[in-house]
Amino acid sequence: MQISGEMMRDLAKVLVVVGLSVLFTAIIALSTSTNQEKSDVITLPQPHTDGGMSVEKALRERRSVRSFTNDPVTLEEVSQLCWAAQGVTDEKGHRTSPSAMASYPLEVYVLAANVTGLPAGVYHYSPQGHNLTMVSEGNRIPDLFNSSTGGKEDWRKNAPAVFIVTGVFERINKIPGEDLSRFVHVEAGTASENLLLEVVSLGLGATYTAGFDANMTREFLALASGETPIAVLPVGHKAEAA
Ligand SMILES: Cc1cc2nc3c(=O)[nH]c(=O)nc-3n(C[C@H](O)[C@H](O)[C@H](O)COP(=O)(O)O)c2cc1C
Repeated sequence: MQISGEMMRDLAKVLVVVGLSVLFTAIIALSTSTNQEKSDVITLPQPHTDGGMSVEKALRERRSVRSFTNDPVTLEEVSQLCWAAQGVTDEKGHRTSPSAMASYPLEVYVLAANVTGLPAGVYHYSPQGHNLTMVSEGNRIPDLFNSSTGGKEDWRKNAPAVFIVTGVFERINKIPGEDLSRFVHVEAGTASENLLLEVVSLGLGATYTAGFDANMTREFLALASGETPIAVLPVGHKAEAA
């Protein structure tokens, strides 16, 4: 069979139409999946890296605060507190808090109950992207602090936001025959103190707490088996003493 010039032109037209529809479908699929990824990631406002209160004043004023008003904390404050705990501060990826062998075994989570600009939920902080990824929707703070001691409610129930520092021990245990797990606890302490001093600088209140239901915390944060919750830091506006 001989292929005429007209047949060639028709074939070319068909190929162009097929090619364009494949391209169009690919663009739609790509943009849908990008939107999907984006919808779960909340970009945090850029943190302030200068100014605020002097370190001396923050040290002098820091006190454990266990009673909060109903006022919300803001997304800017959440951003500042995540940065204080584990924010990246140079191009090599070093952070606000020191880390043994720069192994960075900590993770930071935020439980949001009453945060302006952030739907109630459980979030994981990414230091590299300075963003939050939603782990689950809804306010889990009242459930996490549901138990009462001696008929007294757990005061943490009323916090508008709770920060949780976890440790991934295998990141630090890389030297054969040596158990360096204690370093993870040291780092959780230094990161938490950074956060507590930033809390003072922001005019907020918080307490370092180590007494909590570890199993429920693991469940709410959806932790993998090698990750352990270490520090629980409820944050809010200090209520005046009665
Ligand atoms: C390792 C550690 C664990 C703590 N655990 C709790 C806790 O579970 N609940 C609580 O209300 N306070 C807890 N605190 C706070 C202390 O009670 C508090 O720091 C202490 O009373 C001194 O008061 P200040 O922080 O106001 O200086 C803890 C503090 C540390 C360092």
